[in-house]
Amino acid sequence: MPKFTLNGQEVEAKPGQTIIQAAADHGMEIPHYCYHPDLPIDGNCRMCLVEVEKMPKLTPACTTLVNDGMVVRSENERVKEAVRGVLEFLLINHPVDCPVCDQAGECRLQDYYMVYGLHTSEIPLGMKVRKRKVIDLGPMVVLDQERCVLCSRCIRFFEYVTETGEMQFFGRGDHVAIGTFEDRPLDNPYSGNVVDICPVGALTSRDFRFKCRVWFLHATDSVCGGCSTGCTVRIDHRDGTIFRLLPRRNVEVNRSWLCDEGRLSFHKLSDGERITRPLVKGRDGVQAPVTWEEAARSIDSRLKEIRDTNGAASILGFASPSATNEALFLFKRYLDGLGATQFDFRLDSEDKKLADEEDQILRHFDKHPNSMGAIKLGLMSEQVGGIEGAINAARAGRLKAGVVIYFKPLVERPGDAEAEGRVLALLDELEYSVLLTSHKADWQDSASVVLPVAAWSEEEGTYTNFEGRVQLAGKAIEVEGNALPVWEVFAMLLHASGAESPWMSAEDVFATMADSVSVFSGITLDQTRLPGVVVG
Ligand code: SF4
Ligand code: SF4
Ligand code: FES
Repeated sequence: MPKFTLNGQEVEAKPGQTIIQAAADHGMEIPHYCYHPDLPIDGNCRMCLVEVEKMPKLTPACTTLVNDGMVVRSENERVKEAVRGVLEFLLINHPVDCPVCDQAGECRLQDYYMVYGLHTSEIPLGMKVRKRKVIDLGPMVVLDQERCVLCSRCIRFFEYVTETGEMQFFGRGDHVAIGTFEDRPLDNPYSGNVVDICPVGALTSRDFRFKCRVWFLHATDSVCGGCSTGCTVRIDHRDGTIFRLLPRRNVEVNRSWLCDEGRLSFHKLSDGERITRPLVKGRDGVQAPVTWEEAARSIDSRLKEIRDTNGAASILGFASPSATNEALFLFKRYLDGLGATQFDFRLDSEDKKLADEEDQILRHFDKHPNSMGAIKLGLMSEQVGGIEGAINAARAGRLKAGVVIYFKPLVERPGDAEAEGRVLALLDELEYSVLLTSHKADWQDSASVVLPVAAWSEEEGTYTNFEGRVQLAGKAIEVEGNALPVWEVFAMLLHASGAESPWMSAEDVFATMADSVSVFSGITLDQTRLPGVVVG
Protein backbone atom coordinates (compact mmCIF):
# COMPACT_ATOMS: atom_id res chain seq x y z
CA MET A 1 0.00 0.00 0.00
CA PRO A 2 1.78 3.21 -1.09
CA LYS A 3 1.53 6.06 1.40
CA PHE A 4 1.56 9.67 0.29
CA THR A 5 0.92 13.12 1.67
CA LEU A 6 -2.10 15.03 0.42
CA ASN A 7 -2.47 18.61 1.63
CA GLY A 8 -0.30 17.83 4.64
CA GLN A 9 -2.17 14.68 5.62
CA GLU A 10 -0.59 11.24 5.24
CA VAL A 11 -2.96 8.87 3.41
CA GLU A 12 -2.78 5.36 2.01
CA ALA A 13 -3.57 4.44 -1.58
CA LYS A 14 -4.40 1.10 -3.12
CA PRO A 15 -1.77 -0.19 -5.54
CA GLY A 16 -2.38 1.22 -9.03
CA GLN A 17 -4.59 4.08 -7.84
CA THR A 18 -4.34 7.56 -9.30
CA ILE A 19 -4.16 10.63 -7.05
CA ILE A 20 -7.80 11.55 -7.72
CA GLN A 21 -9.00 8.03 -6.81
CA ALA A 22 -6.96 7.81 -3.62
CA ALA A 23 -8.11 11.29 -2.58
CA ALA A 24 -11.77 10.34 -3.21
CA ASP A 25 -11.37 7.23 -1.03
CA HIS A 26 -10.35 9.54 1.78
CA GLY A 27 -13.25 11.93 1.23
CA MET A 28 -11.20 14.64 -0.53
CA GLU A 29 -12.60 15.86 -3.82
CA ILE A 30 -10.22 17.16 -6.42
CA PRO A 31 -12.18 19.23 -8.98
CA HIS A 32 -12.76 17.37 -12.24
CA TYR A 33 -14.97 17.17 -15.30
CA CYS A 34 -13.69 14.38 -17.54
CA TYR A 35 -12.76 11.87 -14.82
CA HIS A 36 -15.51 9.41 -13.87
CA PRO A 37 -14.85 6.38 -11.63
CA ASP A 38 -16.67 3.97 -13.96
CA LEU A 39 -15.30 5.19 -17.30
CA PRO A 40 -11.85 4.87 -18.87
CA ILE A 41 -9.61 7.85 -18.02
CA ASP A 42 -9.23 10.52 -20.69
CA GLY A 43 -7.38 13.39 -18.99
CA ASN A 44 -8.76 16.09 -21.29
CA CYS A 45 -10.23 18.82 -19.10
CA ARG A 46 -7.23 19.85 -16.93
CA MET A 47 -9.50 20.72 -14.01
CA CYS A 48 -7.76 18.24 -11.71
CA LEU A 49 -4.29 19.81 -11.82
CA VAL A 50 -2.32 19.31 -8.61
CA GLU A 51 1.20 20.16 -7.45
CA VAL A 52 3.50 17.19 -6.86
CA GLU A 53 6.75 17.92 -5.05
CA LYS A 54 9.81 17.52 -7.30
CA MET A 55 7.69 17.78 -10.48
CA PRO A 56 8.36 21.08 -12.28
CA LYS A 57 4.82 21.46 -13.71
CA LEU A 58 1.36 20.93 -12.29
CA THR A 59 0.07 17.46 -13.15
CA PRO A 60 -3.44 16.02 -13.70
CA ALA A 61 -4.53 14.03 -10.63
CA CYS A 62 -6.69 11.72 -12.76
CA THR A 63 -3.78 10.39 -14.83
CA THR A 64 -0.97 10.40 -12.24
CA LEU A 65 -0.40 7.22 -10.24
CA VAL A 66 0.33 7.49 -6.55
CA ASN A 67 3.93 6.66 -5.60
CA ASP A 68 5.16 5.88 -2.12
CA GLY A 69 6.36 9.05 -0.39
CA MET A 70 4.77 11.42 -2.93
CA VAL A 71 3.85 14.87 -1.60
CA VAL A 72 0.74 16.31 -3.30
CA ARG A 73 -0.95 19.68 -2.88
CA SER A 74 -4.35 20.34 -4.37
CA GLU A 75 -5.37 23.46 -2.47
CA ASN A 76 -2.49 25.94 -2.63
CA GLU A 77 -2.57 29.23 -4.53
CA ARG A 78 -0.63 27.87 -7.50
CA VAL A 79 -3.20 25.10 -8.04
CA LYS A 80 -6.15 27.41 -7.44
CA GLU A 81 -4.81 29.87 -9.99
CA ALA A 82 -4.49 27.07 -12.58
CA VAL A 83 -8.02 25.78 -11.91
CA ARG A 84 -9.34 29.33 -12.15
CA GLY A 85 -7.63 29.64 -15.55
CA VAL A 86 -9.20 26.41 -16.82
CA LEU A 87 -12.61 27.57 -15.63
CA GLU A 88 -12.25 30.95 -17.29
CA PHE A 89 -11.30 29.22 -20.50
CA LEU A 90 -14.35 26.90 -20.29
CA LEU A 91 -16.65 29.83 -19.63
CA ILE A 92 -15.45 31.91 -22.61
CA ASN A 93 -18.25 30.65 -24.82
CA HIS A 94 -20.60 29.28 -22.16
CA PRO A 95 -24.06 30.89 -22.41
CA VAL A 96 -24.34 31.29 -18.58
CA ASP A 97 -28.08 30.67 -18.84
CA CYS A 98 -28.28 29.18 -15.32
CA PRO A 99 -31.69 30.73 -14.50
CA VAL A 100 -33.31 28.65 -17.27
CA CYS A 101 -30.99 25.63 -17.05
CA ASP A 102 -32.37 22.46 -15.49
CA GLN A 103 -28.93 21.51 -14.16
CA ALA A 104 -28.78 24.56 -11.90
CA GLY A 105 -28.22 23.45 -8.32
CA GLU A 106 -26.26 20.35 -9.31
CA CYS A 107 -23.96 21.77 -11.97
CA ARG A 108 -20.21 21.36 -11.58
CA LEU A 109 -19.55 24.46 -13.63
CA GLN A 110 -21.65 26.52 -11.21
CA ASP A 111 -20.17 24.82 -8.14
CA TYR A 112 -16.52 25.19 -9.16
CA TYR A 113 -17.08 28.77 -10.30
CA MET A 114 -18.31 29.59 -6.80
CA VAL A 115 -15.21 27.98 -5.24
CA TYR A 116 -12.44 28.80 -7.71
CA GLY A 117 -13.78 31.30 -10.23
CA LEU A 118 -15.75 34.36 -9.20
CA HIS A 119 -14.01 36.21 -12.02
CA THR A 120 -15.63 38.74 -14.31
CA SER A 121 -15.92 37.53 -17.89
CA GLU A 122 -13.71 39.37 -20.36
CA ILE A 123 -15.91 38.25 -23.25
CA PRO A 124 -19.07 40.25 -23.94
CA LEU A 125 -22.16 38.05 -24.48
CA GLY A 126 -22.48 39.20 -28.09
CA MET A 127 -19.04 37.82 -28.97
CA LYS A 128 -19.66 34.26 -27.71
CA VAL A 129 -19.73 31.42 -30.22
CA ARG A 130 -23.34 30.30 -30.60
CA LYS A 131 -24.23 26.64 -30.89
CA ARG A 132 -27.50 24.74 -31.13
CA LYS A 133 -29.89 24.46 -28.19
CA VAL A 134 -32.82 22.16 -27.24
CA ILE A 135 -31.88 19.32 -29.60
CA ASP A 136 -34.21 16.34 -29.30
CA LEU A 137 -32.05 13.26 -28.77
CA GLY A 138 -34.72 10.61 -28.40
CA PRO A 139 -36.92 9.43 -25.53
CA MET A 140 -34.60 10.26 -22.62
CA VAL A 141 -32.23 13.11 -23.50
CA VAL A 142 -32.31 16.75 -24.59
CA LEU A 143 -29.03 18.34 -25.75
CA ASP A 144 -27.83 21.93 -25.42
CA GLN A 145 -24.53 22.20 -27.29
CA GLU A 146 -23.61 25.63 -25.90
CA ARG A 147 -23.39 24.29 -22.35
CA CYS A 148 -21.05 21.37 -23.14
CA VAL A 149 -17.57 21.50 -21.57
CA LEU A 150 -16.27 18.84 -24.01
CA CYS A 151 -15.37 16.37 -21.26
CA SER A 152 -16.23 13.35 -23.47
CA ARG A 153 -17.87 11.40 -20.64
CA CYS A 154 -20.98 10.77 -22.78
CA ILE A 155 -18.84 9.63 -25.71
CA ARG A 156 -16.93 7.19 -23.51
CA PHE A 157 -20.16 5.88 -21.95
CA PHE A 158 -21.55 4.94 -25.35
CA GLU A 159 -18.20 3.65 -26.50
CA TYR A 160 -17.26 1.47 -23.52
CA VAL A 161 -20.45 0.69 -21.57
CA THR A 162 -23.21 0.21 -24.15
CA GLU A 163 -20.72 -0.15 -27.04
CA THR A 164 -23.19 1.64 -29.30
CA GLY A 165 -20.99 4.69 -30.04
CA GLU A 166 -23.75 7.20 -30.80
CA MET A 167 -22.11 10.44 -29.60
CA GLN A 168 -19.13 12.27 -31.06
CA PHE A 169 -17.51 15.67 -31.26
CA PHE A 170 -18.02 17.48 -34.55
CA GLY A 171 -16.22 20.59 -35.91
CA ARG A 172 -12.93 22.28 -35.00
CA GLY A 173 -11.47 24.88 -32.64
CA ASP A 174 -14.04 26.82 -30.66
CA HIS A 175 -16.76 25.48 -32.97
CA VAL A 176 -16.37 21.91 -31.69
CA ALA A 177 -19.78 20.62 -30.63
CA ILE A 178 -21.11 17.41 -29.13
CA GLY A 179 -23.89 15.51 -30.88
CA THR A 180 -25.06 12.41 -32.66
CA PHE A 181 -24.62 11.84 -36.38
CA GLU A 182 -27.46 13.77 -38.12
CA ASP A 183 -29.16 14.19 -34.71
CA ARG A 184 -30.06 10.49 -34.65
CA PRO A 185 -31.97 9.65 -31.47
CA LEU A 186 -30.30 7.97 -28.53
CA ASP A 187 -32.59 5.00 -28.23
CA ASN A 188 -30.44 2.32 -26.62
CA PRO A 189 -31.89 1.01 -23.31
CA TYR A 190 -29.29 2.81 -21.15
CA SER A 191 -29.26 6.29 -22.74
CA GLY A 192 -30.56 8.08 -19.61
CA ASN A 193 -27.21 7.50 -17.88
CA VAL A 194 -25.50 10.24 -19.88
CA VAL A 195 -27.76 12.80 -18.21
CA ASP A 196 -26.36 11.72 -14.82
CA ILE A 197 -22.74 11.77 -15.92
CA CYS A 198 -22.83 15.02 -17.89
CA PRO A 199 -21.28 17.40 -15.33
CA VAL A 200 -23.15 20.40 -16.71
CA GLY A 201 -26.54 21.16 -18.26
CA ALA A 202 -25.65 20.03 -21.78
CA LEU A 203 -27.57 16.76 -21.47
CA THR A 204 -30.80 16.99 -19.49
CA SER A 205 -33.56 14.49 -18.82
CA ARG A 206 -36.60 14.70 -21.05
CA ASP A 207 -38.66 13.14 -18.27
CA PHE A 208 -37.51 15.34 -15.39
CA ARG A 209 -36.54 18.70 -16.90
CA PHE A 210 -38.47 21.71 -15.62
CA LYS A 211 -40.66 19.64 -13.30
CA CYS A 212 -38.94 20.68 -10.06
CA ARG A 213 -35.87 22.63 -9.02
CA VAL A 214 -33.43 20.15 -7.49
CA TRP A 215 -33.05 22.03 -4.20
CA PHE A 216 -36.70 21.33 -3.37
CA LEU A 217 -36.22 17.55 -3.63
CA HIS A 218 -35.71 15.09 -0.78
CA ALA A 219 -33.62 11.98 -1.39
CA THR A 220 -34.36 8.47 -0.09
CA ASP A 221 -31.94 5.58 -0.57
CA SER A 222 -33.64 2.61 -2.17
CA VAL A 223 -33.41 -0.32 -4.57
CA CYS A 224 -34.99 -0.41 -8.03
CA GLY A 225 -38.09 -2.61 -8.12
CA GLY A 226 -37.88 -3.19 -11.88
CA CYS A 227 -36.02 -6.51 -12.08
CA SER A 228 -34.01 -9.10 -10.19
CA THR A 229 -30.74 -7.13 -10.61
CA GLY A 230 -31.81 -4.84 -7.76
CA CYS A 231 -29.92 -1.72 -8.83
CA THR A 232 -29.10 0.61 -5.98
CA VAL A 233 -31.03 3.86 -6.46
CA ARG A 234 -31.90 7.18 -4.92
CA ILE A 235 -35.52 8.31 -5.04
CA ASP A 236 -35.90 12.09 -5.39
CA HIS A 237 -39.31 13.20 -4.19
CA ARG A 238 -41.29 16.15 -2.91
CA ASP A 239 -44.64 16.34 -1.09
CA GLY A 240 -45.51 12.70 -1.77
CA THR A 241 -44.59 12.80 -5.47
CA ILE A 242 -41.60 10.99 -6.93
CA PHE A 243 -39.78 13.10 -9.53
CA ARG A 244 -36.88 10.90 -10.55
CA LEU A 245 -34.74 7.86 -9.83
CA LEU A 246 -30.96 8.20 -9.91
CA PRO A 247 -28.33 5.49 -9.52
CA ARG A 248 -26.43 5.30 -6.25
CA ARG A 249 -22.96 4.02 -7.07
CA ASN A 250 -22.66 0.38 -6.04
CA VAL A 251 -19.65 -1.35 -7.59
CA GLU A 252 -21.08 -4.72 -6.57
CA VAL A 253 -24.36 -4.30 -8.45
CA ASN A 254 -24.89 -1.50 -10.95
CA ARG A 255 -21.77 0.68 -10.71
CA SER A 256 -23.12 4.16 -11.64
CA TRP A 257 -25.77 2.99 -14.09
CA LEU A 258 -29.50 2.25 -14.42
CA CYS A 259 -31.47 0.97 -17.37
CA ASP A 260 -34.01 3.41 -18.81
CA GLU A 261 -36.99 1.20 -17.98
CA GLY A 262 -35.95 0.99 -14.34
CA ARG A 263 -35.24 4.72 -14.24
CA LEU A 264 -38.79 5.49 -15.37
CA SER A 265 -40.46 2.60 -13.51
CA PHE A 266 -41.81 4.84 -10.72
CA HIS A 267 -44.39 6.27 -13.16
CA LYS A 268 -46.22 2.92 -12.95
CA LEU A 269 -47.18 3.78 -9.37
CA SER A 270 -49.44 6.61 -10.53
CA ASP A 271 -50.93 4.47 -13.27
CA GLY A 272 -54.45 3.60 -12.13
CA GLU A 273 -56.57 4.09 -9.03
CA ARG A 274 -55.52 2.95 -5.57
CA ILE A 275 -57.51 0.77 -3.18
CA THR A 276 -57.83 2.74 0.01
CA ARG A 277 -59.92 0.56 2.36
CA PRO A 278 -60.18 -3.17 3.13
CA LEU A 279 -63.11 -4.75 1.28
CA VAL A 280 -64.95 -7.88 2.39
CA LYS A 281 -67.53 -9.68 0.26
CA GLY A 282 -70.91 -10.03 2.01
CA ARG A 283 -73.58 -12.74 1.60
CA ASP A 284 -74.90 -10.76 -1.39
CA GLY A 285 -71.56 -11.31 -3.17
CA VAL A 286 -70.69 -7.61 -3.13
CA GLN A 287 -67.43 -6.29 -1.64
CA ALA A 288 -68.04 -3.65 1.05
CA PRO A 289 -65.56 -1.54 3.03
CA VAL A 290 -64.74 -2.64 6.60
CA THR A 291 -62.20 -1.60 9.22
CA TRP A 292 -58.82 -3.34 9.41
CA GLU A 293 -59.81 -4.99 12.70
CA GLU A 294 -63.03 -6.38 11.19
CA ALA A 295 -61.14 -7.61 8.13
CA ALA A 296 -58.44 -9.33 10.24
CA ARG A 297 -61.00 -11.02 12.52
CA SER A 298 -63.12 -12.28 9.62
CA ILE A 299 -60.08 -13.57 7.61
CA ASP A 300 -58.61 -15.41 10.58
CA SER A 301 -61.88 -17.08 11.59
CA ARG A 302 -62.79 -18.08 8.01
CA LEU A 303 -59.34 -19.56 7.30
CA LYS A 304 -59.49 -21.55 10.55
CA GLU A 305 -62.97 -22.80 9.64
CA ILE A 306 -61.72 -24.03 6.25
CA ARG A 307 -58.66 -25.61 7.84
CA ASP A 308 -60.78 -27.43 10.43
CA THR A 309 -63.18 -28.71 7.76
CA ASN A 310 -60.79 -29.53 4.89
CA GLY A 311 -57.37 -29.80 6.50
CA ALA A 312 -54.45 -27.33 6.51
CA ALA A 313 -53.23 -28.61 3.12
CA SER A 314 -56.31 -26.99 1.53
CA ILE A 315 -54.88 -23.50 2.28
CA LEU A 316 -52.54 -21.89 -0.25
CA GLY A 317 -50.11 -19.06 0.37
CA PHE A 318 -49.31 -17.39 -2.95
CA ALA A 319 -46.67 -14.68 -2.47
CA SER A 320 -45.51 -11.85 -4.72
CA PRO A 321 -41.82 -11.76 -5.74
CA SER A 322 -42.18 -7.96 -5.59
CA ALA A 323 -42.93 -7.92 -1.85
CA THR A 324 -40.13 -7.25 0.65
CA ASN A 325 -38.39 -9.98 2.64
CA GLU A 326 -40.09 -8.70 5.81
CA ALA A 327 -43.53 -8.96 4.16
CA LEU A 328 -42.87 -12.49 2.91
CA PHE A 329 -41.46 -13.59 6.25
CA LEU A 330 -44.55 -12.57 8.25
CA PHE A 331 -46.84 -13.86 5.46
CA LYS A 332 -45.28 -17.30 5.88
CA ARG A 333 -45.22 -17.11 9.66
CA TYR A 334 -48.96 -16.40 9.78
CA LEU A 335 -49.85 -19.22 7.38
CA ASP A 336 -47.39 -21.60 9.10
CA GLY A 337 -49.32 -20.86 12.29
CA LEU A 338 -52.49 -22.13 10.61
CA GLY A 339 -50.62 -25.28 9.63
CA ALA A 340 -50.55 -24.36 5.90
CA THR A 341 -47.97 -26.21 3.81
CA GLN A 342 -48.74 -25.08 0.26
CA PHE A 343 -46.64 -22.08 -0.80
CA ASP A 344 -45.53 -20.60 -4.09
CA PHE A 345 -44.81 -17.28 -5.78
CA ARG A 346 -44.24 -18.17 -9.44
CA LEU A 347 -46.57 -16.39 -11.86
CA ASP A 348 -44.29 -17.01 -14.80
CA SER A 349 -41.23 -19.22 -14.06
CA GLU A 350 -39.52 -16.43 -12.08
CA ASP A 351 -37.22 -19.01 -10.47
CA LYS A 352 -35.73 -19.81 -13.89
CA LYS A 353 -35.67 -16.23 -15.19
CA LEU A 354 -34.16 -14.48 -12.20
CA ALA A 355 -30.52 -15.15 -13.11
CA ASP A 356 -31.14 -14.95 -16.86
CA GLU A 357 -29.48 -11.85 -18.34
CA GLU A 358 -31.53 -9.76 -20.75
CA ASP A 359 -28.33 -8.01 -21.84
CA GLN A 360 -24.69 -7.95 -20.84
CA ILE A 361 -25.01 -4.75 -18.82
CA LEU A 362 -27.63 -4.89 -16.06
CA ARG A 363 -31.09 -6.17 -16.94
CA HIS A 364 -32.45 -9.59 -16.02
CA PHE A 365 -35.50 -11.27 -17.51
CA ASP A 366 -37.23 -11.64 -14.13
CA LYS A 367 -39.06 -8.33 -13.64
CA HIS A 368 -39.41 -8.68 -9.87
CA PRO A 369 -36.96 -7.42 -7.24
CA ASN A 370 -37.34 -10.25 -4.74
CA SER A 371 -37.78 -13.67 -6.35
CA MET A 372 -34.59 -14.82 -4.64
CA GLY A 373 -35.97 -13.63 -1.28
CA ALA A 374 -39.13 -15.69 -1.86
CA ILE A 375 -36.99 -18.76 -2.60
CA LYS A 376 -34.73 -18.21 0.43
CA LEU A 377 -37.81 -17.86 2.66
CA GLY A 378 -39.16 -21.22 1.52
CA LEU A 379 -42.00 -19.95 -0.66
CA MET A 380 -41.39 -22.19 -3.67
CA SER A 381 -42.86 -25.63 -3.49
CA GLU A 382 -42.71 -28.28 -6.19
CA GLN A 383 -45.90 -29.69 -4.68
CA VAL A 384 -47.75 -26.53 -5.79
CA GLY A 385 -45.86 -26.06 -9.07
CA GLY A 386 -46.38 -22.33 -9.64
CA ILE A 387 -49.67 -20.61 -10.32
CA GLU A 388 -50.75 -23.11 -13.01
CA GLY A 389 -50.33 -25.93 -10.49
CA ALA A 390 -52.30 -23.96 -7.90
CA ILE A 391 -55.16 -23.30 -10.35
CA ASN A 392 -55.34 -27.01 -11.20
CA ALA A 393 -55.29 -28.02 -7.51
CA ALA A 394 -58.08 -25.55 -6.75
CA ARG A 395 -60.08 -26.80 -9.74
CA ALA A 396 -59.66 -30.37 -8.49
CA GLY A 397 -60.88 -29.30 -5.04
CA ARG A 398 -57.56 -29.92 -3.26
CA LEU A 399 -57.12 -26.21 -2.49
CA LYS A 400 -60.07 -24.38 -0.94
CA ALA A 401 -58.64 -21.12 0.35
CA GLY A 402 -55.76 -18.86 -0.65
CA VAL A 403 -53.97 -15.78 0.61
CA VAL A 404 -52.54 -14.06 -2.46
CA ILE A 405 -50.20 -11.06 -2.65
CA TYR A 406 -50.07 -9.47 -6.09
CA PHE A 407 -48.22 -6.41 -7.44
CA LYS A 408 -48.23 -5.36 -11.07
CA PRO A 409 -44.61 -5.37 -12.34
CA LEU A 410 -43.06 -1.88 -12.50
CA VAL A 411 -41.34 -2.79 -15.78
CA GLU A 412 -43.81 -4.18 -18.30
CA ARG A 413 -43.37 -7.17 -20.57
CA PRO A 414 -45.80 -8.65 -23.12
CA GLY A 415 -46.77 -11.63 -20.89
CA ASP A 416 -47.99 -9.46 -17.98
CA ALA A 417 -51.68 -9.49 -18.94
CA GLU A 418 -51.67 -13.30 -19.13
CA ALA A 419 -49.94 -13.53 -15.73
CA GLU A 420 -52.62 -11.27 -14.25
CA GLY A 421 -55.24 -13.46 -15.93
CA ARG A 422 -53.78 -16.44 -14.08
CA VAL A 423 -54.22 -14.64 -10.73
CA LEU A 424 -57.88 -14.06 -11.65
CA ALA A 425 -58.29 -17.72 -12.61
CA LEU A 426 -56.85 -18.75 -9.24
CA LEU A 427 -59.20 -16.42 -7.32
CA ASP A 428 -62.14 -17.76 -9.36
CA GLU A 429 -61.33 -21.37 -8.53
CA LEU A 430 -60.81 -20.87 -4.78
CA GLU A 431 -63.78 -21.09 -2.45
CA TYR A 432 -62.29 -18.33 -0.25
CA SER A 433 -59.56 -15.90 -1.26
CA VAL A 434 -57.77 -12.98 0.37
CA LEU A 435 -56.00 -10.66 -2.05
CA LEU A 436 -53.40 -8.11 -0.93
CA THR A 437 -52.69 -5.56 -3.63
CA SER A 438 -52.06 -1.84 -4.16
CA HIS A 439 -53.99 -0.79 -7.28
CA LYS A 440 -57.60 -1.31 -8.36
CA ALA A 441 -58.56 -3.66 -11.19
CA ASP A 442 -61.92 -5.11 -12.35
CA TRP A 443 -60.80 -8.70 -11.84
CA GLN A 444 -60.36 -8.11 -8.10
CA ASP A 445 -64.15 -8.51 -7.67
CA SER A 446 -63.48 -12.26 -7.65
CA ALA A 447 -61.64 -12.12 -4.30
CA SER A 448 -63.55 -12.72 -1.07
CA VAL A 449 -61.43 -10.06 0.63
CA VAL A 450 -59.26 -7.29 -0.88
CA LEU A 451 -56.67 -5.65 1.37
CA PRO A 452 -55.00 -2.37 0.27
CA VAL A 453 -51.25 -2.44 0.76
CA ALA A 454 -48.26 -0.15 0.31
CA ALA A 455 -46.54 -0.23 -3.08
CA TRP A 456 -42.80 -0.01 -3.85
CA SER A 457 -41.26 3.13 -2.24
CA GLU A 458 -44.10 3.43 0.30
CA GLU A 459 -42.56 1.17 2.95
CA GLU A 460 -39.13 0.32 4.29
CA GLY A 461 -37.89 -3.19 3.65
CA THR A 462 -35.23 -5.37 2.07
CA TYR A 463 -35.02 -7.17 -1.27
CA THR A 464 -32.75 -10.07 -2.19
CA ASN A 465 -31.44 -9.80 -5.73
CA PHE A 466 -30.62 -12.59 -8.22
CA GLU A 467 -27.23 -13.35 -6.63
CA GLY A 468 -28.55 -13.33 -3.06
CA ARG A 469 -27.55 -9.74 -2.19
CA VAL A 470 -29.87 -8.29 0.45
CA GLN A 471 -30.31 -4.52 0.18
CA LEU A 472 -32.36 -2.02 2.14
CA ALA A 473 -34.96 0.08 0.35
CA GLY A 474 -36.18 3.10 2.31
CA LYS A 475 -39.65 4.56 2.51
CA ALA A 476 -39.88 7.63 0.28
CA ILE A 477 -43.57 8.51 0.28
CA GLU A 478 -46.67 7.86 2.39
CA VAL A 479 -49.12 5.10 1.51
CA GLU A 480 -52.48 6.18 0.13
CA GLY A 481 -55.68 6.03 2.15
CA ASN A 482 -55.82 3.30 4.77
CA ALA A 483 -53.36 1.01 2.99
CA LEU A 484 -50.73 -0.69 5.17
CA PRO A 485 -47.32 -2.23 4.48
CA VAL A 486 -47.74 -5.96 3.79
CA TRP A 487 -45.70 -6.94 6.89
CA GLU A 488 -48.06 -4.89 9.04
CA VAL A 489 -51.11 -6.70 7.64
CA PHE A 490 -49.65 -10.06 8.66
CA ALA A 491 -48.56 -8.71 12.05
CA MET A 492 -52.22 -7.75 12.51
CA LEU A 493 -53.43 -11.19 11.36
CA LEU A 494 -51.00 -12.88 13.73
CA HIS A 495 -52.40 -10.74 16.54
CA ALA A 496 -55.99 -11.62 15.50
CA SER A 497 -55.08 -15.31 15.55
CA GLY A 498 -53.84 -15.01 19.14
CA ALA A 499 -50.12 -15.33 18.32
CA GLU A 500 -47.39 -13.04 19.55
CA SER A 501 -47.01 -9.94 17.36
CA PRO A 502 -44.31 -7.71 18.82
CA TRP A 503 -43.16 -5.87 15.64
CA MET A 504 -43.38 -2.09 15.46
CA SER A 505 -41.25 -1.58 12.35
CA ALA A 506 -39.73 -3.39 9.38
CA GLU A 507 -36.45 -3.29 11.32
CA ASP A 508 -38.06 -5.32 14.15
CA VAL A 509 -39.33 -7.85 11.59
CA PHE A 510 -35.87 -8.06 10.02
CA ALA A 511 -34.34 -8.82 13.44
CA THR A 512 -36.83 -11.67 14.03
CA MET A 513 -36.20 -12.98 10.52
CA ALA A 514 -32.43 -12.96 11.12
CA ASP A 515 -33.02 -14.91 14.35
CA SER A 516 -35.27 -17.54 12.82
CA VAL A 517 -34.27 -18.06 9.16
CA SER A 518 -30.81 -19.58 8.83
CA VAL A 519 -29.84 -17.83 5.55
CA PHE A 520 -30.36 -14.43 7.20
CA SER A 521 -28.74 -15.49 10.43
CA GLY A 522 -26.45 -12.95 12.10
CA ILE A 523 -27.25 -10.10 9.68
CA THR A 524 -28.38 -6.70 10.94
CA LEU A 525 -30.48 -4.26 8.94
CA ASP A 526 -27.56 -1.87 8.99
CA GLN A 527 -25.45 -4.35 7.01
CA THR A 528 -28.01 -4.30 4.19
CA ARG A 529 -27.16 -0.68 3.40
CA LEU A 530 -24.79 0.05 0.50
CA PRO A 531 -23.36 -2.22 -0.92
CA GLY A 532 -25.70 -4.77 0.72
CA VAL A 533 -24.80 -8.21 2.00
CA VAL A 534 -24.83 -11.53 0.13
CA VAL A 535 -26.62 -14.40 1.88
CA GLY A 536 -25.89 -18.06 1.25
S1 SF4 B 1 -22.44 16.69 -23.35
FE1 SF4 B 1 -21.89 16.67 -21.20
S2 SF4 B 1 -20.92 14.66 -20.91
FE2 SF4 B 1 -20.96 15.04 -23.11
S3 SF4 B 1 -18.99 15.98 -23.57
FE3 SF4 B 1 -20.44 17.64 -23.18
S4 SF4 B 1 -20.23 18.13 -21.03
FE4 SF4 B 1 -19.30 16.13 -21.34
S1 SF4 C 1 -31.54 -3.33 -14.53
FE1 SF4 C 1 -33.37 -3.92 -13.39
S2 SF4 C 1 -32.98 -3.23 -11.29
FE2 SF4 C 1 -31.52 -2.16 -12.65
S3 SF4 C 1 -32.50 -0.22 -13.18
FE3 SF4 C 1 -33.06 -1.71 -14.77
S4 SF4 C 1 -35.00 -2.55 -14.08
FE4 SF4 C 1 -34.07 -1.56 -12.32
S1 FES D 1 -10.43 15.27 -14.54
FE1 FES D 1 -8.31 15.12 -14.85
S2 FES D 1 -8.01 16.00 -16.76
FE2 FES D 1 -10.17 16.01 -16.53
